[in-house]
Amino acid sequence: MKYNNQNVLITGGSSGIGLALAKKFMENDNTVIIIGRNLSKLEKVKVENPKIHIFQIDVTDDAEVRMLVDDIDEKFDGIDILVNNAGVMNLVDAGNEENNLQKQMQEIEINFNSPIRVLHYFLPLLKKSNNAVLVNVSSGLAYVPFAQAPVYSGTKSALHFWTKSIRPQLKPHHIKVVELLPPVVKTEIFDGIDVSEADFKPILPQKLADIFWKDYIKGKEEITPGMSSQLKLMSRLASKFIFKQLNKQPIPKQ
Ligand SMILES: NC(=O)c1ccc[n+]([C@@H]2O[C@H](COP(=O)([O-])OP(=O)(O)OC[C@H]3O[C@@H](n4cnc5c(N)ncnc54)[C@H](OP(=O)(O)O)[C@@H]3O)[C@@H](O)[C@H]2O)c1
Repeated sequence: MKYNNQNVLITGGSSGIGLALAKKFMENDNTVIIIGRNLSKLEKVKVENPKIHIFQIDVTDDAEVRMLVDDIDEKFDGIDILVNNAGVMNLVDAGNEENNLQKQMQEIEINFNSPIRVLHYFLPLLKKSNNAVLVNVSSGLAYVPFAQAPVYSGTKSALHFWTKSIRPQLKPHHIKVVELLPPVVKTEIFDGIDVSEADFKPILPQKLADIFWKDYIKGKEEITPGMSSQLKLMSRLASKFIFKQLNKQPIPKQ
């Protein structure tokens, strides 16, 4: 495995975890390309990190993702590492018929369908690399759901099982599959969401990227920083107990 001089594509690299991972890959002399929907966010990152490459792409848009493959192949002669990181989280009360169905469908489209789409279209480029890695960013909530975000929890669990399933399928094509399952990290995903710091013990994105990198260069396939490793263990040993601990308030405040 090579850890520098690689072309790295990160979906949702304009803030939070994606941006911290982008900086970590750049610190280690890789060429980093990030994508996101909000152009001003991307441009701000470019001003602060002139070496980064930015593309305004919505991962849910099939045509945009297909065009990106051609663009990247032409400009960078392919990619070696694909990080499926873009994601959103909505608090939803499934018991309230007034909830926003469209937003929930969109959440599935971004968090679960899009990693499948992005891999599908980038597969030929990954197959061209002699050091191909797919990194899927799921969540510690793939082990124990957060009831206030039921669709989110479902997408992360689905992403976790998809990742496990495709690992042996991509092995014959020499594509390594890594899964990062973050614990609670202080990012924009929590804007307007009230999480108890005492219960969830959030960490900073840079700290997560440091842990990721240490485990990544060790060759770990499932990276479970901080509380995520406890969630993994507890989901096996005492699943009802840990569910109750994480979900003292299962219904989002209105
Ligand atoms: N923060 C946590 O506690 C935590 C814990 C576990 C897992 N995660 C996962 O980590 C990943 C990153 O989240 P974050 O916490 O770093 O949140 P964030 O700061 O809100 O970052 C989300 C990123 O995804 C991009 N994005 C969202 N929808 C997109 C779309 N349709 N097309 C392209 N880009 C899109 C956003 O850019 P635009 O809005 O400009 O498109 C942004 O760059 C997510 O998959 C999240 O589920 C987060």
